[in-house]
Amino acid sequence: MNQPLIIARAEEFVKEQLGQDTTGHDWWHTHRVRSTACEIAEIERADVFICTMAALLHDVADEKLNPSKEAGLLKVHTWLTANLTEEEQIRHIMLIVETMSFSGGGGEPMQTLEGQVVQDADRLDALGAIGVARTFIFSGAKGRPAYDPEVSPREESLQKEYRDYSKGTAVNHFYEKLLKLKFLMNTAYGRKLAEERHDFMLNFLDQFYKEWNQGRQ
Ligand code: ADP
Ligand code: NI
Repeated sequence: MNQPLIIARAEEFVKEQLGQDTTGHDWWHTHRVRSTACEIAEIERADVFICTMAALLHDVADEKLNPSKEAGLLKVHTWLTANLTEEEQIRHIMLIVETMSFSGGGGEPMQTLEGQVVQDADRLDALGAIGVARTFIFSGAKGRPAYDPEVSPREESLQKEYRDYSKGTAVNHFYEKLLKLKFLMNTAYGRKLAEERHDFMLNFLDQFYKEWNQGRQ
């Protein structure tokens, strides 16, 4: 099996599928997840080919880009059976893509090391400076405000246990999801990468509140 050729074909397929997306699932998100997944895979001794393929395909089945989750998964399965011959590889990649599309940012456990690697890479792309950028892009695309001091958590809540805030500002998304991701990382190396990005987001929020409150007593 010519792995570089199959990977190149997968890249083309994904670019075609995700090219127009403006909600955080564009080609460059996939590209970063793939690079990070490969880096984690080397360190964690996971199968780099499976991680590459699953990372490339992980968002193609996303419900937001398809009539339904099932339709999205069928699209990925059809592509895999047309391009791969080994049943076991197809089954493994499908398992990862399926778990990723059904779990979202939640807690659905990944059953294989390769799945854990790709999930970590996807979560890492929601953190740090890139994570901040994607959150504001997503909120803008949905018509949501950056921040509302009347509904957003106050600065002091950073010191407390992270709570769920259901209100839909970009800043709230840090509390409802992003600041929890560091604790959900599957691999030791993924966790290590998450630390720096997590701290960056805390610093970003500190600075954000500081500027917001500039001049107030
Ligand atoms: P992925 O499937 O790649 O993990 P998601 O579909 O969960 O990504 O989200 C895409 C991007 O938009 C991520 O960076 C995520 O943090 C951000 N995002 C998701 N939901 C919200 C929200 N309610 N408010 C702001 N940003 C969001
Ligand atoms: Ni993703």
